[in-house]
Parts: sequence; structure tokens; C-alpha cells
Amino acid sequence: MSDTFALVFFGDCVGQPGRRALKAAMPAVRERYAPAVWVVNGENLRGGSGITPDQFHDLHEAGFNAVTLGDHAFREPRIVPLLDDPAIPICRPANLSQKGPGKRWIRIPAVGGRTRDVFVATVLGRIFMNLPADDPFACADALIASLPERDAIVIIEAHMETTAEKAALAHHLDGRVTAVIGSHTHVPTADARILPSGTAFITDVGMCGPYASIIGRDPKGVLRAMTTGVHTHYEMGEGGERACGCVVLIDSATGRARSIERLDYPLAGS
Ligand SMILES: [Fe+2]
Ligand SMILES: [Fe+2]
Repeated sequence: MSDTFALVFFGDCVGQPGRRALKAAMPAVRERYAPAVWVVNGENLRGGSGITPDQFHDLHEAGFNAVTLGDHAFREPRIVPLLDDPAIPICRPANLSQKGPGKRWIRIPAVGGRTRDVFVATVLGRIFMNLPADDPFACADALIASLPERDAIVIIEAHMETTAEKAALAHHLDGRVTAVIGSHTHVPTADARILPSGTAFITDVGMCGPYASIIGRDPKGVLRAMTTGVHTHYEMGEGGERACGCVVLIDSATGRARSIERLDYPLAGS
């Protein structure tokens, strides 16, 4: 039995270009890291905003053990019954209204020689975000305390706009969770590292999507809106598709991260 296992986390999967890049990357990632746990943020799959039940099932059948969401969690109402179902591994951000629907964390059961369950949860930031969310620091504390295991292997996704808020959350949780993984900006950062008390951290894993764009959208519409102040519908971008994420090597006995490394897989021919 191995004393470590790999967990991969891919960033916000944006529309069909993102799905194509993600699916194309999976064989090479499997070959290189043999991940025991696969997680992806699916908040942008439905034309850039939200996720349909079919899109969730497609990811699940492809091998993803957990699908997380962010500020676009409820944009596609048909996903709500899946969010409410305890047996379906998709969750909404934990610090949205407690009266809102949906699970606040996912438990990924141990299988295949891995001896420990893994818990995954997302918290939204409060700075420059357009959804009202509760305090992510207090939410993460309460969530850890409420889990059915003590000293569990916990992955917290920091779905936030600012680098400082993510780093602050990571330092707040250092030594108490296995990893704090940033998402939401759709732009990867080059700062993957292990914090002083052992928590793995990266400010943003970036998106799985078309990088020849403005964070996944066609530049024409975004520029029209930003230069005239008149908002128009944003089309999906295309070109430069890549699947970006990170891989965390986890010590099965201690639950601590041994390493964190960025993943960046360009789609061939894009
Ligand atoms: Fe996103
Ligand atoms: Fe987001």
C-alpha cells in the first residue's frame, strides 16, 4: 500500500473549449501522476455560467470524484436537485446563505489502496465579489469542526477575486487543512508552495478553457462593454485551449501535503 496519494484539482472549466482541453489532458495526467482523487470546478461549463445535470454527469463518468462550484453555482436551476442529493458529489460554496439549497462539502470515500476519505469544500471571497457571502474564515473554521472525522484530509477551494484574501485564508488554515487551492480569476499563478505549518497553497490554478480570450470570453464583446459602458452578451472565447490545475501529493498517514505542483496542459492544435 502506498504511503502517499495524488489529488488533482483542475480550475474553472469554461464551456465546451474547457471541457475539450480537460478531457484531452486526462490520459497524460493519469499516466504521469496516477491520481487517486480528481476534482474540478465546473461553475462555467454551461456556456460560461452554471452547470447542467448532463454536464455534471459527463465529468463524473470521465472520472472526476468531485465537482465544485463558485459564484455561478445557482445560475442553472436544474442543478439544484443534484446539489441537494447527499449521494451526488457536487457542492455549492459553503458560505452562501444557509437558507440556500445544496451540500456545503463533499466526502470522497477511500478506495483503491487509499486509506483515508477526502473532504472538499469551496468558500467564496468577500472582496470584489458580486454575491453576498458569509465570512469565509469563520465558515471554514465551522466547517472543519463540523466534519464527521477529526484531523480529516480537507481541501478548501478559495474561490476569490483577490490574491491577498486567498493568501490570508491559506495562512489562517495553515496546519489545519491539507490544501488551500485558489480559483475564480481564471488566470494561473506561479506560487504553488507548502506553507510553514504544512498546508499546500496556490493562489489560483487558472481555468480549463480558451486562453486566447479575456478570462474565457470573446474579447470583442468585453472590449465593447468596457470601452462604451454598454453591456452586451459575452460570447465564449476560442483558441489557446489549456487545462490548468494542480497536483497535491498527500501523506496518507498524516493527511499533510508533501508537495504541490502546477498542471498546465495545452490542447494539441489549439
Ligand atoms: Fe469561474
Ligand atoms: Fe467564479
